[in-house]
Amino acid sequence: MKVFICGFGTVGQGFAEVLASKGKMIKDRFGQDVSITGAMDSRTYVCDPAGLDPLALVARKKEKRTVGDKGYTDPAEVLAKADYDVLVEVSPTDVKTGGAGLGNIISALKRGKDVITVNKGPLALKYAELTELAQKNGCMLRFEGSVGGAMPILNLCAENLMGEKIVSIRGIFNGTCNYILSKMDKGQPFDQALKEAQQLGYAETDPTNDIEGYDSACKVAILANAVFGRNVTFNDIKITGITSITEEAVSMAASRNMVIRLIGEVSDSRLEVGPRLIPKGHPLSISGTLNTAQIVTDLAGPVTVSGRGAGRAETASAILSDLMAILERRTKGRDEESLRLRHHAQGRRPDRGRLILMRRQDRHSQEAGRLRSRLHRRGLAGIQPEGRRVLLPRIGAAPVRIEAGGLREHLPPGRSSGRGRGPQGAGRMRIGMVLHIRKDVGLPCQGGLGDRAR
Ligand SMILES: NC(=O)c1ccc[n+]([C@@H]2O[C@H](COP(=O)([O-])OP(=O)(O)OC[C@H]3O[C@@H](n4cnc5c(N)ncnc54)[C@H](OP(=O)(O)O)[C@@H]3O)[C@@H](O)[C@H]2O)c1
Repeated sequence: MKVFICGFGTVGQGFAEVLASKGKMIKDRFGQDVSITGAMDSRTYVCDPAGLDPLALVARKKEKRTVGDKGYTDPAEVLAKADYDVLVEVSPTDVKTGGAGLGNIISALKRGKDVITVNKGPLALKYAELTELAQKNGCMLRFEGSVGGAMPILNLCAENLMGEKIVSIRGIFNGTCNYILSKMDKGQPFDQALKEAQQLGYAETDPTNDIEGYDSACKVAILANAVFGRNVTFNDIKITGITSITEEAVSMAASRNMVIRLIGEVSDSRLEVGPRLIPKGHPLSISGTLNTAQIVTDLAGPVTVSGRGAGRAETASAILSDLMAILERRTKGRDEESLRLRHHAQGRRPDRGRLILMRRQDRHSQEAGRLRSRLHRRGLAGIQPEGRRVLLPRIGAAPVRIEAGGLREHLPPGRSSGRGRGPQGAGRMRIGMVLHIRKDVGLPCQGGLGDRAR
């Protein structure tokens, strides 16, 4: 597998180092080499389809301050010509426009390339467009490290908690703010705590994005879209930062056995970032730079996760987990193809499959979003010929016949979507209901993931 790393700073270099150290493990597990065939920083790039030495790239960047010899003016031109399978987009976050990262991600998805990113700007502003583009082009867009760095949360919700209704998520999503507030608990004034955070490298020279709550708000927007299936952007979040928290407010909270923490909150009806009073001893009262989130679910109740929200190796670890998920899917894809050929040789119908139904008007409901996320993050769409997965846009665009009564599986009881517009006899349909389908029969498919497979 060929990887292009766009952005060669802390995270880009950290990921190159991780590839150097984990290459053998990946090869043992998936039987594939992962090579870096391109890398780009703000001014230069380097490409070699035969593969570049990750550690030599890091050493060169350190020594010469550029990753490559060649300059560029338009990154899209470089990405359009480069030979790669997966784009790792780790250029700087821009919450106003999406920055260069937005164009880079679009360029890769349009070429049908898988994308891994921890760049919050494009996701917080254009989540719906990007995921639809990925689905349309049959590729994966993964972004575990964009929320909470190494703290597992997106894949946890999409996979381990897939049967749960997620009621709400509340969390500390910015280690810099938490560090400052923890220091204020100990009596330091805000300015001094901020200065100390900057000296220790926890806060940027311009700390606005952190202390005004913008960074946390990006993560709330990403969670709202990816976990709750909402269709929101950064601009929909109600944001209050920590700049107006006084020493008096902190000591008043302490006198009531509480601490003040910057909390991001998301549910079906809430989208907020702001300082909150948290009882001492509560999982969200933690001190220091860790990120923590409490996921409230219908069956499991509250599930709390915690981890390092930033850092070279930590963020690279989240990217590695996304890369391995892509490798897993690709390996399965190869199995599917050989199964399809085997079935074909045996005269069996490879076109039988299953279709997940969803009415168009339900596409922004929580169930629909979670289903979409779940399927998308597993790199599949709604149809499984012979129990295996095929990308929805390709099959969904083909005529199919729904064989009523072939109900095999459904998500936890969701909102009824009423009688579907599907063929007679399909009966009442619920979001996530899976019906047997048979391709190539000639009737238009009326269900599908979102409105893709109509
Ligand atoms: N650091 C973390 O722990 C962490 C955690 C989670 C998410 N993130 C996200 O990860 C991304 C990268 O963070 P970082 O800490 O690695 O930042 P960084 O150290 O500032 O590195 C950014 C890199 O992007 C390059 N770059 C700038 N403009 C570019 C452009 N237009 N096209 C391609 N590359 C460009 C920079 O080039 P030069 O080297 O030439 O300046 C630099 O190599 C950000 O979006 C950040 O929000 C970071």
